[in-house]
Amino acid sequence: MSSQVGFLRTIGSSACPLQQEQRSRERRLRLVPAPVTCRQSQGGGGGGGDGLILDRRNVLLALGGAAATATASSSKMVLAAPVTPPDLSKCHDANASGLGDNLKCCPPYTSATVYDYEFPATPLRVRRPAHLVKSDEEYMAKYKEAVKKMKELPENHPWNYYQQALIHCAYCNEAYDQVGYPNANVQVHFSWFFLPWHRYYLHFYERILGKLIDDDTFALPYWNFDAEDGMNLPEIFTMDPTSSIYNDKRDKSHYYPAIVDYKYGYANTAGTGETGKDLVQANLSYMSKTFKDSLQLPELFMGDPLRAGEESEKGTGGLETIHNALHQWVGPAESPHTDMGSFATAGRDSVFFCLHANVDRLWHLYRGFRGNKVEFNDPDWLESSFLFYDEDEKVVQVKIKDALSTTKLRYTYEEVPIPWMGRVSIKKKAETKEKSTTELSLVRVGEFGSQPRELGTSPLRVLVSRSKKNRKKAEKQDKVEVLQVKDIVVTSSGPARFDVYVAAPYGDLAGPDYGDFAGSFVKLPHTMNEKGKMPESGMKKKKKANLKLGLTSILEDIEADDADKLVVTLVPRVGEITVGNVVDKLVLSNY
Ligand code: C2O
Repeated sequence: MSSQVGFLRTIGSSACPLQQEQRSRERRLRLVPAPVTCRQSQGGGGGGGDGLILDRRNVLLALGGAAATATASSSKMVLAAPVTPPDLSKCHDANASGLGDNLKCCPPYTSATVYDYEFPATPLRVRRPAHLVKSDEEYMAKYKEAVKKMKELPENHPWNYYQQALIHCAYCNEAYDQVGYPNANVQVHFSWFFLPWHRYYLHFYERILGKLIDDDTFALPYWNFDAEDGMNLPEIFTMDPTSSIYNDKRDKSHYYPAIVDYKYGYANTAGTGETGKDLVQANLSYMSKTFKDSLQLPELFMGDPLRAGEESEKGTGGLETIHNALHQWVGPAESPHTDMGSFATAGRDSVFFCLHANVDRLWHLYRGFRGNKVEFNDPDWLESSFLFYDEDEKVVQVKIKDALSTTKLRYTYEEVPIPWMGRVSIKKKAETKEKSTTELSLVRVGEFGSQPRELGTSPLRVLVSRSKKNRKKAEKQDKVEVLQVKDIVVTSSGPARFDVYVAAPYGDLAGPDYGDFAGSFVKLPHTMNEKGKMPESGMKKKKKANLKLGLTSILEDIEADDADKLVVTLVPRVGEITVGNVVDKLVLSNY
């Protein structure tokens, strides 16, 4: 309890100077004196609830959002259709771009009895930042020993390191069909399943590691990539090529001291050209943005709803998008992007679990910021379930509703400062501007039109009408303004990425400046046949994805709330992509 109070106090007090931002004429050059000491008192976590009960109004203020708390909540109920666990006996070959169509990812226990998971009563495990455990010799020895033991298990043992990696492959690369829906795969990315599924995956993985070294307090380290000190590939995984947690299939130019880039997309080392402190600030600003509007609208953070039988790639949440870029940043730069660069192989690199521990921690923070209000009060989410192999060597079934409390799962996170709480200064980069011949030239920009459009090598700029301008504060609390990029189809093999910028037009003309970064679409290598072509029709459908980005706070930032229309610029970074439409919508908030 004391830890909660500590965090609350710092948020509410001037120690977090986030509320005091000044609007500057030269747009967002609002500096947060870093690092902010939003630190919980030591020994945090545990206790009642999930360690982070915050006043939501304070959090929104701290994040710099205009909308304070709103009471509106939406719980549209449609036909009950939670996704049920796969039928293990029907597991089939998986596939991945560059790796082939016949990947063997099925678990060795296809005929196992399935038990309901009994939640453990073990001590609370505390996950600590990877850059800090580096100097804890005792911990590091245990961690490496546990992974070594996992690697030494018989190849077919369900706990074997590579078997554990295959769990991810099977759930992500189409090895399972949904029960009752032979044309729909089980897919735990690109939707509201992403965070809870990975939470469970880590939970069991961590407990198995602990069991192997007979330590029921063992906890995975987390890659604190949202703080400056953690913005490198953790050295615990890179400094000793003989260690059990080393992996050779990585982009070694990204080893320390390279700074991670949330906008990385293979094509260039730094997604939008920032380096050094500017890159750190750009990352922090991106993280802050990812939390802001999404506090009111969980699908922006978590991903879109996905119900039984539905096409499996709906809409990726903002946190997953950043995480995708980090996968690419760690994995080999050359195709095939194996290990971290592909879902089929990512679990072979211990960095995976460290990356995901922080992704999970960020979700944990997000929940706390929302006062632990359920993200989707919808049985299709809460009752959806998965299977895992637990530390007692049993196949167990777990439901999303039981994944919402880390306390129930008996772990928590060591608190560290949160430097992205608030406005983060970033310098404008030339890259976001049209390399135009004349300065300040204005260009005519048309509407999107009714036909899908290809994202070629140059940016696509369109004029988008807004649903409503100059909304009152209460309206903003009630509904979030969302930019939707619809029906995105990746038409090349390999990874894909485009970035989205938003600006106000001058009349119907667009300036040379693309405006503010609003978010990205990022995909790891797509499922396709080896020749890099889309599978024959009839084999698999081209999947259409949607991208949703919150606009409310961005438009306040760029002082464009009175604009009737917006200039939206889609900047292609890698891959060939077709886009169906770009629209502005108001979506009922759930906060
Ligand atoms: Cu299942 Cu980091 O992906």
